[in-house]
Order: sequence, then structure tokens, then C-alpha cells
Amino acid sequence: MKIIVTGGAGFIGSHLSSRLIKEGHQVLIIDELHPYYSVERKKRQLEMIKHAGEFSFYQKSLIHHEGEVRDLFHLFKPDTVIHLAAIPGVPNSILVPNEYVDYDIKATINALRFAGEAGAKQFIFASSSSVYGDQQNIPLKEDMANGTVVSPYAAAKYGAEAFCHAYSTIYDYKVSILRFFTVYGPWGRPDMAITKFIKQLMADQEIVVFGSKTARDYTYIDDCVSGIISAFQQKDQYAIFNIGSGSPILIEELIKQLRGFFPGMRVKHTDFRQGDVQSTWADISKAKGELGFHPSMSFTDGLSRTIEWAKAHAKEI
Ligand SMILES: NC(=O)c1ccc[n+]([C@@H]2O[C@H](COP(=O)([O-])OP(=O)(O)OC[C@H]3O[C@@H](n4cnc5c(N)ncnc54)[C@H](O)[C@@H]3O)[C@@H](O)[C@H]2O)c1
Repeated sequence: MKIIVTGGAGFIGSHLSSRLIKEGHQVLIIDELHPYYSVERKKRQLEMIKHAGEFSFYQKSLIHHEGEVRDLFHLFKPDTVIHLAAIPGVPNSILVPNEYVDYDIKATINALRFAGEAGAKQFIFASSSSVYGDQQNIPLKEDMANGTVVSPYAAAKYGAEAFCHAYSTIYDYKVSILRFFTVYGPWGRPDMAITKFIKQLMADQEIVVFGSKTARDYTYIDDCVSGIISAFQQKDQYAIFNIGSGSPILIEELIKQLRGFFPGMRVKHTDFRQGDVQSTWADISKAKGELGFHPSMSFTDGLSRTIEWAKAHAKEI
């Protein structure tokens, strides 16, 4: 298939693109290399994709280079568009909320329009568990998102989902909304807890934990990529799927497992952060039943692989 991956130089996008290339797809990546985190890191991630095989890359922005990006879509004529481009990060969205309207909503509208005009048959959107708001300690089913979000990031993703639905009625493509749950693993995003903690622990620094009794449904990157690829099996014109592990991990458990690797670790507990939710827990029965999605990495093995990677790339993380 011909596939456009927006945000393909990012954490999830670089792993996904490598896998798609290895599976024989023709991949075109559009990524502006946004400086939300190190641009060098994104260039490194692009280099990594080259090991998988050939692909095209355009350093263009979905919002600042509209005309050129539209031309790329028209010329390439993708079968599928996988739209990952966004600025992530809950705390940053409280600092610069309007950026999230631009990068997470307006960019999505452009991708939806360009995909439709270019005749794509499927549009896959990277949404987030944050759209469920703060519904604590219960498995979250796809129909439980009701708009009661608690951060500008989540509000932008929830709004972008609505645009995806609107465009599924305007254009003749299938739309898949995938709600990712805290993705981690090698080359994990540097602003996210697991990557940040490991980096600090390797430098013998204290780690800071926000709030207590929090829990996250951590998804290993390879399982997330498998989840995205499983969406090719979607039958309905429009559908929403949780892509998670289905097993939440308490912060105490994460700390305990990290202590196994870094016995001298020092932990400072501080207040719960505004915009965060207490817990996330994905009910993945819909993706299992309809897409054949089966996450296979245990948290213990995933964490161990992530630490192994971090130690081997200490200078780059
Ligand atoms: N990592 C997670 O745990 C997680 C969880 C839920 C949802 N998501 C969503 O998955 C997607 C990928 O996340 P990630 O962790 O790989 O983030 P990332 O920041 O590593 O990747 C996003 C990429 O998009 C690019 N980009 C941003 N705006 C752009 C624009 N307007 N035009 C072109 N390129 C642009 C960035 O340069 C970056 O390389 C995002 O939409 C994110 O919100 C991620």
C-alpha cells in the first residue's frame, strides 16, 4: 500500500514507519521536526528508519506549508493516511493552549481534507486516552468519552476526533480513531515519565513523582505499532478503538520495578499535577474482537528492554 505517515520522525511514527517499510509498504513521511523536544533526536529517529529500507521524507508543516503538503498528497495518492503529527504533552498544553488548537486540531483538519481530496481509502488518527477525562480505576470503553476532559491537550484531541467524524461523512474514506494509552519503549519521548526517570536514574539523580496512587495503562511501542497496523482490518466506515495493554500499573509498582535496576534510587513525592488524570485503564476488547489486536509485551519485559536501550544510548537520550 501507499501510506503517508504524518509525524513520522517522532517516537511512534519512526517505529511505525520502520515496520511498514519492512512489511513492503511504500511510505512517505511528512514531519516538520517541531522543537517540542530535541530536533537532533528526531533526525536520529529518521536515520533509524533508513535501516528498514527506502522511504520519502519531507520536512514540511501541515499548518505552515499547506499548499506544498496538499501537493504532496495529490502527487503521492496514498491509499492510507496515518496522522500522528501533533504536539503532545499535557503540562505544556496548559502553558500554550492555543498551540494545541493549531497543531492538534487545525493540522488534523488539513490532513483530513488533503487525504480526502487525494482519494485515500482510510484515515487513521492518533487520539489519546486523555479524552476520557478523570474517570478513575475503571476499564475505559470507547463509548465512555463524554467531553469531561481536564487538559487543553485532551480538549484538542477530543475536538479533533469530532472533525474526523465530520470528514468521514464528507469523503469516501474509512476513518479509524485510535486512542493510545501511555506508549513507552526504546526511543520513548523524553518528556514522558518512564524515559525521564531512566535518564535521571542513570545520572544518579533523584526522580520526582507527582501525586500518589496514580496508575497508567502502559503500552509497549511494538504493541502500539501492531495496534495501528491492525486498524487496516477495520470493517466499519468509522470506528474508535483503544490501543493499550489492558493492565494498569500503579506508580508504586513502577518505582519498585525501577528499584530492581537502580537499587540506590531516590524518590521525591510531590503534589498531583494540574491537567493529569489519576488513572488510565484501557478496555481493549473491541480492538481484540474486531481488529485481532493482541498486545504481547509484559510490563516487566518492556521496562527491562527500555532500560537496556537507554544504557546502550546513554549519550543520545
Ligand atoms: N506517546 C504516547 O504515549 C501517546 C499517547 C497518546 C497519544 N499520542 C499521540 O500519538 C501521536 C504521536 O505521538 P509521539 O509520542 O510519537 O509524539 P512525537 O512528538 O514524538 O511525534 C509527533 C511528530 O509530529 C511532528 N509534527 C508536529 N506537528 C506537526 C505539523 N503541524 N506538521 C508536520 N509534523 C508535525 C513532530 O515534529 C513530531 O516528530 C501524537 O498525535 C500524540 O498526541 C501519543
